[in-house]
Amino acid sequence: KNKIGSGSAPVNIALSKYWGKRDATLNLPTNGSLSISLPGLGTKTQIERLESQNQQTDLVSLNGQRLDQDNAFAKRVSQFLNYFRETPQTFFKVDTENSVPTAAGLASSASGYAALVLALNDLFAWNLDNKSLSLLARLGSGSASRSLFNGFALWHQGQQADGLDSYAEAIDTTWPEFCVGLLEIDVKQKPVSSTQGMQNTVETCALYQAWPQQANQDMQTILQAIKDHDFATLGKTAEHNALTMHATMIATWPPIVYWQPESVEAMHKIWRLREQGVAVYFTMDAGPNLKLLFLETEKPAILQAFKQIKILEPFKS
Ligand code: DP6
Repeated sequence: KNKIGSGSAPVNIALSKYWGKRDATLNLPTNGSLSISLPGLGTKTQIERLESQNQQTDLVSLNGQRLDQDNAFAKRVSQFLNYFRETPQTFFKVDTENSVPTAAGLASSASGYAALVLALNDLFAWNLDNKSLSLLARLGSGSASRSLFNGFALWHQGQQADGLDSYAEAIDTTWPEFCVGLLEIDVKQKPVSSTQGMQNTVETCALYQAWPQQANQDMQTILQAIKDHDFATLGKTAEHNALTMHATMIATWPPIVYWQPESVEAMHKIWRLREQGVAVYFTMDAGPNLKLLFLETEKPAILQAFKQIKILEPFKS
């Protein structure tokens, strides 16, 4: 019987962002980044070799639906699988189940490529360690390097041209009170992919030159705040980091504005709550949705202010 490899991985939310590549083929970043994984939300993937001689393409399905060959997601998966074909005639059947809306700024490419690498590891019985799995996932999507882990993860920028020092590691800390609230503003496909968006930013945004240093400093600040369980420093730094990233996007040409009016409205609401003494901060990725950061003690206040919010407790599942 044809062997099936399977793997699953969580989505992750960057507290200190990856935005910009020094190598677009290898997904090597201009700065390090740091994330929190959300267990319970992510991707489950199964992969098998297609044995038929007549089969000249991969068969990729997403949430039970077979995708056309010219579908952007299927093409990107096939391109990634080119690294792993034993012969040019080896094709794969890939079944992907996402528990997050694809391309809604909830980094489904991150959990997607992490799960795919775990499925390949299973299919080929490689028994790779986390570092190697992270390096491979990074080749599919940069942020996927961080999705092999639960809890906090740090992706090292690395210096080498071959990228072998650019991988993520788990940060060995639990923080049971830590909460992430998902505020869905709009789940439609984003107009500009992160891949395209960061390339345009690097090429046309003069402000971008200040980003790598700021981002690496924010990452160190957040790393220390995690170790100290200093939530105010973590929240403040994560929010400032996200807004700085969005400032570079807005200063890109053509401009990249992922925000919707409701996104800005939610920001003001969060700032008002903070004025009232509620310790809540937010972060945002390449989309209009907000991710709220707060500790368990603020849960009632958050639920009251945001009726539709989905609250996740990363260290309690
Ligand atoms: C804003 O990892 O999706 O979410 O490497 O081109 O696949 P590619 O980009 P991707 O970029 C994620 C950008 C971000 C910030 C982050 O997750 O760090």
